[in-house]
This record gives sequence, C-alpha cells and structure tokens, in this order.
Amino acid sequence: MNALTRITTFVLTVGAAVLLAGCERPPVDTVQSGYRGTGMEQVYNPRLLAAQVPLNQAPPLIPQGGPEGPKAKDVLQNVKVLGDLSIAQFTNSMVAITAWVSPKEGCNYCHVPENMADDSKYTKIVSRRMLEMTQKINAEWTPHVAATGVTCYTCHRGEPVPSKIWFTAKAQDQGPKFIGNRNGQNAPVGNVKAGSLDVDPLTPYLLKTSDIRVVGKTTLPSDHVASIQATESTYSLMMHFSSSLGVNCTYCHNSRNFGKWEESPPQRTTAWHGIRMVNDLNNAFLVPLTSTFPASRLGPTGDVGKVSCATCHQGAYKPLYGAAMAKDYPAMLRAPAAATATLPAPVAEALRSVLYFDVGSPVLKGEQEVGLAQLIASMKSTPATTATISGFHSAAGTLTQNQELAKQRAFTVRDSLLAAGIAESRVTLAKPQQTEANLAGEDPTARRVEVTIK
Ligand code: HEC
Ligand code: HEC
Ligand code: HEC
Ligand code: HEC
Repeated sequence: MNALTRITTFVLTVGAAVLLAGCERPPVDTVQSGYRGTGMEQVYNPRLLAAQVPLNQAPPLIPQGGPEGPKAKDVLQNVKVLGDLSIAQFTNSMVAITAWVSPKEGCNYCHVPENMADDSKYTKIVSRRMLEMTQKINAEWTPHVAATGVTCYTCHRGEPVPSKIWFTAKAQDQGPKFIGNRNGQNAPVGNVKAGSLDVDPLTPYLLKTSDIRVVGKTTLPSDHVASIQATESTYSLMMHFSSSLGVNCTYCHNSRNFGKWEESPPQRTTAWHGIRMVNDLNNAFLVPLTSTFPASRLGPTGDVGKVSCATCHQGAYKPLYGAAMAKDYPAMLRAPAAATATLPAPVAEALRSVLYFDVGSPVLKGEQEVGLAQLIASMKSTPATTATISGFHSAAGTLTQNQELAKQRAFTVRDSLLAAGIAESRVTLAKPQQTEANLAGEDPTARRVEVTIK
C-alpha cells in the first residue's frame, strides 16, 4: 500500500465513521413482509427492540369479581358511568384505576378523603369522561382496536399525565430575515422523528380532517393537485406513524405505489380507521374538557393535551404487544344493553347481531365468544325466535378460498347454537348475495357472520 492509498483509506474510514455516527448502530435485521422483489421489508435493530420490550408489558391482572349482588348505583351516591357494576366490581375497578393512573398519589388523586361522592377535584371529572372514552373505544372502534381493546393503562402506564401527549405548536416566528419564513418547517421535533418537514402535522390530520391524499391518479397533473407543503405534511404525519409503531413505511405500504390500497398490507386499513378514531377521541372527549383542566396543564396555545398514535402504541406495532387486557375489566366495557336478554316474543322487528373473526380464521375468539354467548342466552330466553346466519369475508386473498372461509364461519356459529341446545328447526343458513364486503383489501369489519333474529 503506498502512502497515498493509506491516507485515502484513513480518510474514508474516519469519514464513514463520522457519517454513520448519526445512524443506528448495526447490526440490523430485516424481515420480509411483502411479495419477493417488492422491497417490502421491516428493518429491526435488535438492540433497540430489546429496549422496547420491557416498556410494553401489560401490568399484573387485578381480579374484578363477578356481577352478583346489589349494583353500585343502588348503593353509592354519585355514580354516573359505572352504576351497573356490582359493588365488588366497582371497588376493584377503583383499585385498578389507581394502579394504572395514580399509583404514587393513590385514591386521593381524584377524591377528597372525607367524601368519595364529592366531585370537586377536576381529576375526577376528567376520569369520568375518560371512562366513557375508554368504553367507547372498546365498544365502537373495534375496526381499529379489535377484541384487544384498551384500558387506562394503555395510555397512562402508571402516570397521571400520559407521557405521549401532544399540543398544537405555536406559529413559528419568522426567524432571521435571510432564512425567510420557515412556515412551520425546518425545526426538528420528536413527534415526527426529528424530520425537517412540517413540525406539527398532527393538528391538520389528528385534530382537523385535512386530506391525506397527495398522489395523483393520472400520469400527468390533471384535476388532482396537492401542494408541496401538503405533501411534506403528509410525509411528516407518516414519520409520526412509523416512529409511534416502531415500523418502516412498508409495514403499511408497498413503496412501489404509496397510494394504491390494493397493494397495501392490511395494516394500512387498520391505520385508516385509527386516524378517524384519534380524531374522534380528540374532538369528542379531550377538546371539550379544555376548561376543566387547570391552566398549568394546557399547551402553548391554551389547548388541551391530546391523543396521537404514540399515546397508545408507544413504539410497539400493537400497544402492549397486543395484550388483551380490557376483557378482564368490566369497567372498561360498556354495560351490555339489558334489552336483549328480555326480548319480547314475538319481536316486531328483526334484531341483528354481528360476530367478527381474525384474518383467515373461522374461529371466534375473546370478546366475540362473549357475543356468541349473549346470542345463545337471548335465544334461550325467547323460545319463539329463529336465527338466520350468513358468513362474509374480506377482499384480500383468493375468492374461492374466501368463499369457503365465509361458509366455515357461518358453520361455526350454527354449530355453536346447536351445541348449546337450540333446536335445529330454529337455525337457518343463508348465503348472502354478496359475501365480499369491502374493496380496500383486508378490513376487520368484513370478516364477520351476521345473525338475524326474528
Ligand atoms: C383516577 C381517578 C380515580 C381514582 C384514583 C380513584 N377513583 Fe374512585 N371514582 C372515580 C370516578 C370517576 C368515580 C365516579 C364513577 C362514576 O360516575 O361512574 C369514582 C367513584 C368512587 C366511589 C363512589 C362514591 C359515591 O358514593 O358516589 C367510591 C366509593 C370510590 N370512587 C372509591 C375509590 C377508592 C377507594 C379509590 C382508591 C383505591 C379510588 N376511588 C380511586 C375516580 C377515581
Ligand atoms: C387513549 C388514551 C387515553 C386513555 C385510554 C385514557 N386516558 Fe386519561 N388522559 C389522556 C390524555 C391525552 C389526557 C390529557 C393529558 C393532560 O392531563 O394534559 C388524559 C388525562 C387524564 C387525567 C388528568 C390528569 C392530570 O393530572 O391532569 C386523568 C385523571 C385521567 N386521564 C384518567 C384516566 C382514566 C381513569 C382512564 C381509564 C378509565 C383514562 N384516563 C384513559 C389519554 C387517555
Ligand atoms: C401504520 C401504517 C402506516 C405507515 C407506517 C405509513 N403509512 Fe403512509 N399512509 C397510511 C394510511 C392509512 C394512508 C391513507 C390515509 C387516508 O387516506 O386517510 C397513508 C397515506 C400515505 C400517502 C398518500 C397516498 C395518497 O393516496 O396520496 C403517502 C405518500 C404515504 N402514506 C407515504 C408513507 C411513507 C413515506 C411512510 C414511511 C415514512 C409511510 N407512509 C408510513 C398508513 C401508513
Ligand atoms: C386508543 C389507543 C390507540 C390509538 C390512539 C391508536 N391505536 Fe393503533 N391499535 C390499538 C390497538 C389496541 C391495536 C391492536 C388491535 C388488534 O389486536 O388487532 C392497534 C393496532 C394497530 C395496527 C395494526 C397492527 C397489526 O400488526 O395488525 C396499526 C397499523 C395501527 N394500530 C396504527 C395506528 C395509527 C396509525 C394510529 C394513529 C392514527 C393508531 N394506531 C392509534 C390502539 C390504538
């Protein structure tokens, strides 16, 4: 090696080391997540992943007790949300909430010790609304949270104020004249992985409902024109998605064409519902609580702390790696409507119940099993009723296999009814006109069986 090559090698090595210092330390692993050749791979850094795991473990189970005995609303003075729980369930739910939200501060974080029914602490008012919010997520946002659901712990993790909340950014000052108007850009912020794009993409998309579509459908620009700034904001939001879930862009996209739903993995559909859910949580629950919070809790523009993807996910592709905590805590679930159990016979209008399935599966799990049990109970208590069962599937995969799957799903429900002692004459299978229920690939609401009770 002559002197010149030696110097060049030295410069290159040091130069590379300096350049790489800003990147993640190797080694990294890649896992293929799409068709071969499409570059759909997830890149993981085992060291960072190992650090994530302990942060995303579910806390120990706190047994909640059964529904027997008098109800909370009949014994206690001021319960507005949890009134249908038994006294044991109510008390244990207070223990759980304390462990999840204010373990250091205890019951008195929300209560004045002399009188538990007193509502003078803002934290109690907020918590009551948080109970309603959590119940709504678990009851109505199943296209996103599935049967896994959420509890206060999903966001709070043992802290009164969740660590991953966000506030609307203050309009940036213009900066030195020669830099010009920074227009809310070019300042690294944590929310979007220090990207030099839009510093606050959450306000337009997770509080307001700006259009996230930036890719035109035609080769040449025609009717669809997204400004460069809107495009940068979209990418900034996508950085937030990726960093919140600890995944690459290809977890939800085929990078050949970011816009195309047909080529996107099912996770993108889940994410689509997630955007709508977060919007609902912020606008229906948090924003209306703004004046309930003390000024010290509000952000630089006087706004309330809000929910983003990171609030629940905290770096994991599913919060707490998919631990299904909610089902063990009746306080987190909306009380089942008492009406179904006492269905008058014969009923005037048909009652429909829907059961959802996992991808590619004809088996009912978790909360869906509870739904099935409710269906059986209501049919048993009203012997004059009959059930008509139809199976459906999503649009992902091959049609023939899917139609078979839809049929197997219907069989699962029929067999369960018969096994529970419902007479065969009361159960009919009906093939729907259209078993495929969506066009956006994998959609959790499409993988279902509908049961019509008359
Ligand atoms: C993070 C806030 C929070 C914490 C901590 C908390 N509670 Fe509560 N508590 C509430 C809310 C909200 C209600 C009202 C529920 C409703 O309206 O359905 C309530 C209601 C009650 C009531 C009913 C009072 C009445 O007569 O109306 C009792 C009793 C109670 N809590 C006991 C406790 C105990 C004991 C602890 C500690 C183990 C505790 N709570 C911790 C938020 C909290
Ligand atoms: C989807 C995420 C999420 C869930 C689930 C959730 N919270 Fe919250 N919580 C928030 C956000 C966001 C705030 C606002 C942060 C702030 O205080 O500025 C908040 C604030 C609070 C506060 C006020 C804390 C303070 O000191 O200002 C209390 C108390 C609280 N939550 C209780 C609960 C309880 C009890 C549950 C379960 C029934 C719950 N939360 C479920 C996101 C969540
Ligand atoms: C967790 C899933 C998820 C991740 C990760 C993700 N995206 Fe997206 N992306 C979506 C969803 C959902 C939409 C559509 C939003 C809508 O229509 O409301 C979208 C839309 C887009 C669009 C607009 C497409 C169009 O129709 O105009 C682009 C471009 C895009 N993403 C790029 C990226 C890039 C680049 C990354 C990585 C930095 C990324 N995405 C990471 C879920 C994701
Ligand atoms: C209220 C809590 C909560 C918030 C906020 C939330 N998620 Fe989720 N998310 C969940 C839960 C719970 C699951 C697991 C559902 C399951 O088990 O299938 C999940 C699952 C997902 C999945 C599917 C992962 C997989 O591998 O199947 C994606 C993708 C996702 N979320 C994206 C997002 C995006 C993007 C946002 C922000 C727009 C978001 N989530 C906000 C609770 C939340």
